[in-house]
Amino acid sequence: MRVPFIAGNWKMNKDREGTVKLAQDLKEKIGNEEYKGVEVGVCPPSVYLHAVGAELAGTPIGLGAQNMYHEDEGAFTGEISGKMLKGFKCKYVILGHSERRHILGETNHEVCLKVHAALNVDLTPIVCVGETLLERIQERTIEVIKEQISGSLAVLTAERASRIVVAYEPVWAIGTGKAATTEQAQEVHKAIRGTLKSRYGEEISSTIRIQYGGSVKPDNARELLSQEDIDGALIGGASLKADSFLGIIAAASSLAGEATAK
Ligand code: PGA
Repeated sequence: MRVPFIAGNWKMNKDREGTVKLAQDLKEKIGNEEYKGVEVGVCPPSVYLHAVGAELAGTPIGLGAQNMYHEDEGAFTGEISGKMLKGFKCKYVILGHSERRHILGETNHEVCLKVHAALNVDLTPIVCVGETLLERIQERTIEVIKEQISGSLAVLTAERASRIVVAYEPVWAIGTGKAATTEQAQEVHKAIRGTLKSRYGEEISSTIRIQYGGSVKPDNARELLSQEDIDGALIGGASLKADSFLGIIAAASSLAGEATAK
């Protein structure tokens, strides 16, 4: 069984005080019974990794970054390496988020270099893929996703693939309040799993977690997470408030509990 993975992407929000307060609020409650059976991570802005890491040390909440550069060190002004993120005790790094692809022009090739670099230092990459509204209207969703998967995961061995997480985030659903329907999401998740299966075989593809992201809230989380190939969620807006983030974790936890009881 795939352990559900709920990750918060805090993006470029909050000041230091607000960020630390959010981490404290999460840490206080995460041990409660209603949040059991779920892997939880938070990805604050890099300048707050140290402060949030200090708050979360010794808790079950893992620390993640929102991006990294593919080289370990050198003359790369403004960049941060995976090795540095490891120094902050990061476990995860979000790679190829649509805001980086579309606002900052990141390509599949760059994402791929970063995926390899992250795995080299034992960081778990959360590799994001997702179609734009135009691509969906043109009925090119699956084609675009397959292209992003093969480009972003080029020359990745099965052993390496077993250490990644994929996040399907339709660009039109991010921050818009308009989540994909469960059918739309499951259809793409199934296609992603199929693509992974054709590359890495049944055994590996059945263990890779595929998160859904895009306007996930406590009130739509259960329905989305109950789909066969949806193994967690990457949360933006709703992860900025402890109550709504915890509400989503509780939904994942209750589904995981029901699955184990079966
Ligand atoms: P959202 O963002 O939950 O605010 O839609 C999701 C994401 O960008 O990861």
